[in-house]
Amino acid sequence: MSRFLVTGGAGFIGSALTRGLLAQGAGRVVVVDNLTSGHERNLDEIRGNVDFHNTDIRDYDATRAAMTGVDIVFHEAAIPSVPRSINDPIPSHDVNINGTFNVLRAAKDAGVSRVIYAASSSAYGDSLTLPKVETMPTNPKSPYAAQKLMGEYYMSVWTSCFALETLSIRYFNVFGPRQDPGSEYSGVLSLFMTAVLDRRPPTIFGDGGTSRDFTYVEDVVALNLKAAQVPSSACGRTYNGGNGGRVTLNEAWALLQKIEGVSIPSNFGPERAGDVRDSQADTTDACKYLGHDPHFTFEQGMRATLDWYRENR
Ligand code: UD1
Repeated sequence: MSRFLVTGGAGFIGSALTRGLLAQGAGRVVVVDNLTSGHERNLDEIRGNVDFHNTDIRDYDATRAAMTGVDIVFHEAAIPSVPRSINDPIPSHDVNINGTFNVLRAAKDAGVSRVIYAASSSAYGDSLTLPKVETMPTNPKSPYAAQKLMGEYYMSVWTSCFALETLSIRYFNVFGPRQDPGSEYSGVLSLFMTAVLDRRPPTIFGDGGTSRDFTYVEDVVALNLKAAQVPSSACGRTYNGGNGGRVTLNEAWALLQKIEGVSIPSNFGPERAGDVRDSQADTTDACKYLGHDPHFTFEQGMRATLDWYRENR
C-alpha cells in the first residue's frame, strides 16, 4: 500500500480527501497544514489515523521532512479566492506559487513518485464557448487564476525535467460539508446555505446570471483517488475535474429557497473584479483517462451539504 500525504489536509477539500484515502484502506495519511484556513476539527473523527504536521508549505525543510517515506502527494494547500488575491496579492502569490514550487522540490528530493495538484478552472477566464475544454487557450483574469495556472506549468515541467509524475486537476467550484462560510472570501454556496438557514438574504454580485459548474466534494475526492492509480502515460498534463453542468447564482438561490420552503429575495451588489462570467467543464478527457464519473447532481449535493450545516454549524 502506498503512503499518502495531503497538503492542506485540514482544509475543506483536503480533509475530505484524507477521509477518502482512509476509507479506501490507506491505514495512515500524512497531513501538512498550517491551519491558516484549515481546522484541526475537520480531522476529528480520523485524528488517530493522521500524522499531522503543522507546517507551512513555504518552509522547504519542514515540508521535505514530512515527505520522508511518502509515495503520493495530493497538493491541496493554497490561499484560495479570486477577490482575496486582488485585495491582498502577496500572501496568495507566496503560498500558491512559491509554496507549490517547494512542494515539488521537496517531493522530488524525498523520492515521491507522484504529485496530484489542485488546479483551478479560473485559468480559462472568459472563453468564447462552453463547455471549457483543456485544449482551449488559458486567459487568467485575476492573480489567483494566474497563480494556479503557474502551478500547472510547474507540475508539467517537473514531469518533463525531473521525471516526477504529476497530474493537474482543474477544480470547478467545489462545494460540500466543512466548507468554511466564515469569511467574505468563502465559496458562494457556503454563504448561500448559511444565509438560507439563518433566514436572511445573501448578496449576489452581478445580476445573478453568472454561472458555475458546481461540483460536489465527494466527486472530486473520488477523482483524486483514481488519479493516484492511473498509468504513468496519463501523467504530465491537466484535466478538468468538474461535474459538467452549469447553474446560475439565481438558480442556486432559488433552489435553496425551494428546499427550505421560504421566500427571501436576495440582495444584489456590483460584479466583483476578476470574476469569470460562465464556467462549465468538458469532462471528456477526465472520464476517458482518469475514469472520472461524477455521481452527485447539484440538488443532491446541495441537500447533503445543507443537512450538514444544519447539524454541525
Ligand atoms: C474560483 C474558481 C474556482 C476556484 C475558486 C477558489 C472560477 C470560474 N472558479 O471560484 O475554480 O476553486 O475560485 O476560490 O474562477 N458571489 C456572490 N455572492 C457571494 C460570494 C460570491 O454572488 O457572497 C459570486 C462571485 O462574485 C462569483 C461567484 O459567486 O461570481 C462564485 O464565487 P466564488 O464562490 O468565490 O468562486 P469563484 O471565484 O467562481
